[in-house]
Amino acid sequence: MGVIDKLYTSTVVVTMKVGDKLNGISVAWVTRVSWSPVMLAISIGKTRYSHELLLNANGFCVCVLGKNAEKVAEHFGTLSGRDVNKFATVPYSFSKRGYPVPEGTIAYMECEKTGSFEAGDHTIFVGRVIDGKILKDEEPMIFGEGRILP
Ligand SMILES: Cc1cc2nc3c(=O)[nH]c(=O)nc-3n(C[C@H](O)[C@H](O)[C@H](O)COP(=O)(O)O)c2cc1C
Repeated sequence: MGVIDKLYTSTVVVTMKVGDKLNGISVAWVTRVSWSPVMLAISIGKTRYSHELLLNANGFCVCVLGKNAEKVAEHFGTLSGRDVNKFATVPYSFSKRGYPVPEGTIAYMECEKTGSFEAGDHTIFVGRVIDGKILKDEEPMIFGEGRILP
């Protein structure tokens, strides 16, 4: 179904904290869904460890990657939080509400989870943006044609 690869999106790392557990997952299936209030949707595969965490989370943080952060996207997009602490080997700071924000992030949005909807082998998590910050004036990383674009 190569036709869906014609939809280009930003690439983000969605971070979460559930109890004392921190995790982050690279996500290209992310979009704005409401203007008032500002809301986002992310689509997460049901087999991902993040899926398990997000079902139990009150919120999440969408960290928009800059176009030079390919290594960060690969790190959070190939390892699983089931096996490793992905934040052990990547420098990060904290957002206002204590979500981890990995290096390479140009802007983050803290979201309160407002709902979730099944979509085939994925679940769509919807969040209301409660705060956000622009960290760097850099172009975002774009995902399209089934890959990170140069
Ligand atoms: C650039 C990129 C974009 C990705 N986009 C998504 C996505 O939108 N949804 C998803 O469920 N997985 C996506 N993935 C795959 C997950 O990031 C990957 O399976 C990750 O290792 C899951 O980590 P976890 O088990 O800690 O949740 C993407 C991976 C990459 C490299």
